[in-house]
Amino acid sequence: MNALETSALTYRYGPDKVLDNVNLVVSPGTIYGFLGPNGAGKTTTLKLATGLLRMQEGAIHIFGQSMPVHRIEILRSIGTLIESPSLYAHLTARENLLLYQKLYRCPSARITETLERVGLARTGSKKAGQFSLGMKQRLSIAIALLHSPRLLILDEPTNGLDPSGIIEVRELLKQLTGQEGLTVLISSHLLAEIERLVTHIGIIHKGRLVFQGTMDELHMKQRHSSGLLLGTDNPEGARHLLSECGIEAVPENGHLVLPDLPSEKMAEITRQLVARDIGVYRIEPKKNDLEQIFINLVND
Ligand SMILES: Nc1ncnc2c1ncn2[C@@H]1O[C@H](COP(=O)(O)OP(=O)(O)O)[C@@H](O)[C@H]1O
Ligand SMILES: [Mg+2]
Repeated sequence: MNALETSALTYRYGPDKVLDNVNLVVSPGTIYGFLGPNGAGKTTTLKLATGLLRMQEGAIHIFGQSMPVHRIEILRSIGTLIESPSLYAHLTARENLLLYQKLYRCPSARITETLERVGLARTGSKKAGQFSLGMKQRLSIAIALLHSPRLLILDEPTNGLDPSGIIEVRELLKQLTGQEGLTVLISSHLLAEIERLVTHIGIIHKGRLVFQGTMDELHMKQRHSSGLLLGTDNPEGARHLLSECGIEAVPENGHLVLPDLPSEKMAEITRQLVARDIGVYRIEPKKNDLEQIFINLVND
């Protein structure tokens, strides 16, 4: 049974289709990064999944239960941070959690446990209103974790924080995602932000899921899109010769990009190029970093 699954999820704001047939699959125990540029549809997807927006088309199942039919059961099993929750500025971290503990009717021991977990156990009588942005965000995450959810859904949890807050929340996420049994779905518009955190990734662009798989599969895609960069004083002539040899060369920023070729083949081609008086001044491996893969995916 999947932790979260959307089937053919489609959503419109008025006439604008902002989600188009999104099939998200989050397996239990995974850390799923939901990546996409601003405006791609991440928040809309997560709001639908947590029942904050009314469904229009498609289906959503969380631990096998369908939203919105089993809304209450679902809300019990998930912890969410989608928009800044209301923190009580005049209350301490502990007092804030006490309110939610009563609301959730979870054991009061959870308060101390959760404060420890987010690193706020020693904030004493300090009021949440006096917290730094990072501390406020950690308190928000504590509220999401208080009732021991099986699935934690965080929508761009480092957005809007100052640099030290970003570091604090990143550190906390590293700890949380290292813990067993908790499935985490975390969205971001920055690959670098989640790359080292997640096991699985879904990339959304203009409301469509353009990639979904493991981080390894994304790396594989990266390797497949690597090649050789050829610098020559006569790109057109070189292209012509290469195509005679059955090799497709694609011009890019004044260079040619070739598929990965065995060394002997490359040596042979270089000899032929030079024999035709085509100057070769650079041959180097072209490696797409993950960021480039992301950009390619969202530009296709
Ligand atoms: N309340 C709204 N009314 C109309 N359009 C909206 C509303 N909220 C979001 N949108 C539009 O829906 C698209 C997806 O937005 P959103 O889900 O917030 O993207 P993301 O979270 O990936 O940045 C965007 O084009 C955005 O402008
Ligand atoms: Mg958003």
